[in-house]
Amino acid sequence: MAATIQTAGRLARAAGRRRSIRDVAELAGVSVGTVSNVLNKPSLVAPETRAKVEAAITTLGFVRNGSARQLRAGTSRTIGAIVLDISNPFFTDVARGIEDRLAEDDFILILASSDERVDKERRYLRLLEEQGVQGVLVSPAEEDLGWLDQPRARGTAIVLLDRPGPAETMCSVAVDDVRGGELAAAHLVALGHRRIGFVNGPTKIRQCADRRKGVRKALRAARLPVARSLVEVTVNSLNADGGEEALERLLQLADPVTAIVCVNDLAALGVMRGLRRGGVKVPDEMAVVGYDDVEFAAVLTTPLTSIRQPRYQLGRAAAELLLAEAHSRGHQHEQILFQPELIVRESSGPHQLVPMG
Ligand code: RIB
Repeated sequence: MAATIQTAGRLARAAGRRRSIRDVAELAGVSVGTVSNVLNKPSLVAPETRAKVEAAITTLGFVRNGSARQLRAGTSRTIGAIVLDISNPFFTDVARGIEDRLAEDDFILILASSDERVDKERRYLRLLEEQGVQGVLVSPAEEDLGWLDQPRARGTAIVLLDRPGPAETMCSVAVDDVRGGELAAAHLVALGHRRIGFVNGPTKIRQCADRRKGVRKALRAARLPVARSLVEVTVNSLNADGGEEALERLLQLADPVTAIVCVNDLAALGVMRGLRRGGVKVPDEMAVVGYDDVEFAAVLTTPLTSIRQPRYQLGRAAAELLLAEAHSRGHQHEQILFQPELIVRESSGPHQLVPMG
């Protein structure tokens, strides 16, 4: 009786905190080892003892600490993903592909947003390791990947998401962004544009660096002097506000541009919003091309020309590679590169601005 009163008193004091395996053992009147056996090897425990322990678990609402158990056994069924911006519908569509593929193997996704900040990205990777995830998909916020060596050495599988990787040493799934930038600029050149604005993010982000390469490659292929025919504006926020802020700078040019390539559809949304606010007609007075071809691109008042990325497939393929790397001995790293596609809509054509020649 005294023991029960003591236990009840201690448990009352423990109210509000997460119940431990010790609480269950005390209430059931058995050892912690017996409770552990009921949880992990129930066949070793006599039925009446097992019933007492299970009654105590129910009474206390005990939930085993999965991550601690999984950490010990290395059997976590969680995968982490760190994307650049969770509010960007591009990454929502990618996450859909990841989640669907993981669910097929009864895995769960922990999704985090670095907001293009290196410090957040590294903090989140550490937190995910502490959770004992089997692996992490990372869309890096900077060019240098050396910081990934340590978590990988500690056994966390890493696959680069939406970024080509160093061949042989790491798995990656990406879209050919050099080609994407080239498609966007070549389309505008073919329409007769000879002075083009490019709203881009910082080139420390690989997607931005590669799109820039592609835009410049297209202008050189058309034998246009890049210095004269391209006006680059770098924004730190790859979203609509960043796009609108960049547009304000482009509209002040003494020698104006007649078309704008945007690093993504969110930035293009901001450019279109600013043009509408300023009464600038799209595409007659300004052509606009986005990048991603997310769902809203086609339904804008002036439907947006964009560079389509296979977002869902990108997510699925990345999850597939990560599961393979986390579970197979002698895994061979693989670099998957999808191809972008130009989707022409009203925001860029078919108005011919300058006769070819
Ligand atoms: O995060 C910036 C961009 O990179 C996204 O909009 C998408 O295009 C990704 O590839």
